[in-house]
Amino acid sequence: MEFRALDEFSKKYIPLLDSYMRDLLRGSPEELYSAAMHLIKAGGKRLRPLMVIATARALGGPDAEARALSLAIGIEIFHNFTLVHDDIMDNDDYRRGMPTVHKVYGIPLAITAGDLMFSMAFLSVIRAVEVGLGHELTVKAARTFADASRKVAEGQGYDILFEKLWDVDENDYLKMIYLKTAALMEASASLGAIAAKARDEVVEAMGEYGRLVGLAFQIRDDIIGLYGDPAKTGKPVYSDLRRGKKTLLVIYAAARDQDLRRKLESIFTGKLTEESLREAAEGIKATGALSYAEGLAQSYSQMAIERLERLRSSGLIVDEEAYSVLRELALFSAQRDK
Ligand code: IPE
Ligand code: IPE
Ligand code: MG
Ligand code: MG
Repeated sequence: MEFRALDEFSKKYIPLLDSYMRDLLRGSPEELYSAAMHLIKAGGKRLRPLMVIATARALGGPDAEARALSLAIGIEIFHNFTLVHDDIMDNDDYRRGMPTVHKVYGIPLAITAGDLMFSMAFLSVIRAVEVGLGHELTVKAARTFADASRKVAEGQGYDILFEKLWDVDENDYLKMIYLKTAALMEASASLGAIAAKARDEVVEAMGEYGRLVGLAFQIRDDIIGLYGDPAKTGKPVYSDLRRGKKTLLVIYAAARDQDLRRKLESIFTGKLTEESLREAAEGIKATGALSYAEGLAQSYSQMAIERLERLRSSGLIVDEEAYSVLRELALFSAQRDK
């Protein structure tokens, strides 16, 4: 499948976002700022800031773009902060095809670089007041952002605590991924709508779209973490199995195959080899977990698109190109292989 609108939009906005982020993350101590820029320089898809800008344009036209930019940058810097800390928590060595921040700079500086990025992210959101968002909407944006930040921390808490638990079910999982991943996409779409000065119901409807995209996105992330190609994802495979992560695939498979469940538990105690990880991944597939997860990701993606279509039939879409970007973001999230 081609993602023409999304590709075009990325080509237009990613260089702009990157240059703003480089300007913002300059200072001393130099090594701390380099650590903070390490992952940002490595690239990434920049989907969340693109979602902010596309939402702002779709609902508010070109005028909304200037107001959306510092919100978009705040979201992306925050996302990168979560990845720096996530790679420490998950003990991963690679991301975006590069060694992770803690591998290069050590854990203490990586934690501090994360804290710096977290702070810069909030500053960037508050900067929207200087480009015409107004005090009231800037407070609304900052509150939405802070609330998403609180949710990500809770979600990461569940993710880590679930490593040691075996009675995690699909509902627990959906709650966890809503908090750790979908809440930030919900905030991305909401912030775009706030930048467009949309009514509260519209901000909420866009947030719902972002939430659904985020659920599809994280389910797909679990799939490519098990069956993806590291040359494309830039991330290691089987890391989730090694850590004992309760991904949708593991939950589904363990509930249906007791032998496999025992095998997975023994992997989590750290005894098994690369070969047995591959075998476990095949065993998981044999339970039907892969097709189940693919189906669920697709259905969240379709629900997200229905939300968009509803907004369009209400006559709220003023920019068709930006609308296509949002549509493709929903499709891409459920199908991506990177
Ligand atoms: C990775 O997000 C972390 C998750 C929430 C699954 P992305 O896949 O958007 O990472 P980058 O920014 O493109 O590297
Ligand atoms: C994604 O975590 C959520 C956050 C980083 C907040 P994961 O651990 O599932 O994502 P990857 O696979 O490392 O990117
Ligand atoms: Mg991780
Ligand atoms: Mg993680």
